[in-house]
Amino acid sequence: MGQKKLIRFAEINTFNNVFQYPEGSSGTWHKHFQNDNPIVLELACGKGEYALGLSLLYPEKNFIGVDVKGNRIWVGAKKAIENKITNVAFIRSQIGMINNYFTPGETDEIWLPFPDPQLRLSKAKNRLTHPIFLRKFQQILNPSGYINLKTDSPTLYAFTKLVIALHNLSVLVDSDDIKKDLPENKELQIKTHYEGLDIAGSKKVHYLKFKIDKVLDIEKDEVLMNQVKLIEKDNKEGKVFDEKETD
Ligand SMILES: C[S@@+](CC[C@H](N)C(=O)[O-])C[C@H]1O[C@@H](n2cnc3c(N)ncnc32)[C@H](O)[C@@H]1O
Repeated sequence: MGQKKLIRFAEINTFNNVFQYPEGSSGTWHKHFQNDNPIVLELACGKGEYALGLSLLYPEKNFIGVDVKGNRIWVGAKKAIENKITNVAFIRSQIGMINNYFTPGETDEIWLPFPDPQLRLSKAKNRLTHPIFLRKFQQILNPSGYINLKTDSPTLYAFTKLVIALHNLSVLVDSDDIKKDLPENKELQIKTHYEGLDIAGSKKVHYLKFKIDKVLDIEKDEVLMNQVKLIEKDNKEGKVFDEKETD
C-alpha cells in the first residue's frame, strides 16, 4: 500500500464524521446529527461529491456517504471537517451490509452516482440496482423515499429500466441525457470524479429517479437474468470500460 493511502487510513480513524463498519449504529443517526432531519444516503460515494454538494443545497437534511474505500472517503470527510459541514458523515463498509447500520425506514432517499456498471454478465448481481440490492434498500428507506441513479453507462441505465419494468416500480424522472433534458436541475449539476472520466465514452449522463414501491418477488430474478443475457450478449461497452477503468 502506498504511503499516501497509509496516512489517510490512519487519519480517518481520528475523524469524528467517519464510521468504519459501525455495528450497532442503526437507529442512532439522528442522535449523531443532533436533529430529526431526513437522512439521505450516497452509496458508492467515492470522494463524496454528492453528500457534500447536496448538503449545501439542503442544509435542513443529513447526508451519509458509504464506500468501502477509506482513501476515497478521506477526501470527502476532510472537506466536510475543513469547511465545518456538520450535516455530512461517512460509513466505510461494503454496501451489502447496509441493513446492519439503519433501522427499517430510517433513511429518506438514496443517491447512486456512477456506481460500477459491473458489465460482465457474471457480475450483474453486483449492480447496485439489481433487485438483490433494491430489497436491502427498500427495508431501510421510508416508504415514500426514492432512489436516484446517475450513470454514464448505457448498459446500467437499460438494466435498471428493465428491473423497474419487471417489478412495475413508479418512475418519477427518466432522462437519457440530463444535459439535454434537465439542464436547470441543481442536484444533477453536482459533478463527481467518475462523471469527469466519461468511462463509457457516451458523452451522456443518464438519470432515473424511482420508488421501490412494490414487493420485489425473488422468483423474478431468474426472469431478469434471462432477459439480460439476451439483451447484453453482443454488448460492446465492457471492452471500452476495461480499457479505461481507473483506481
Ligand atoms: C465508479 S466509482 C464511483 C465513485 C463516485 N460515486 C464517483 O462518481 O466518482 C464506484 C465506487 O463504488 C465503490 N464500491 C463499489 N462496490 C462497492 C460495494 N459493494 N460496497 C461499497 N463500495 C463499493 C468503489 O470503492 C468506488 O469508490
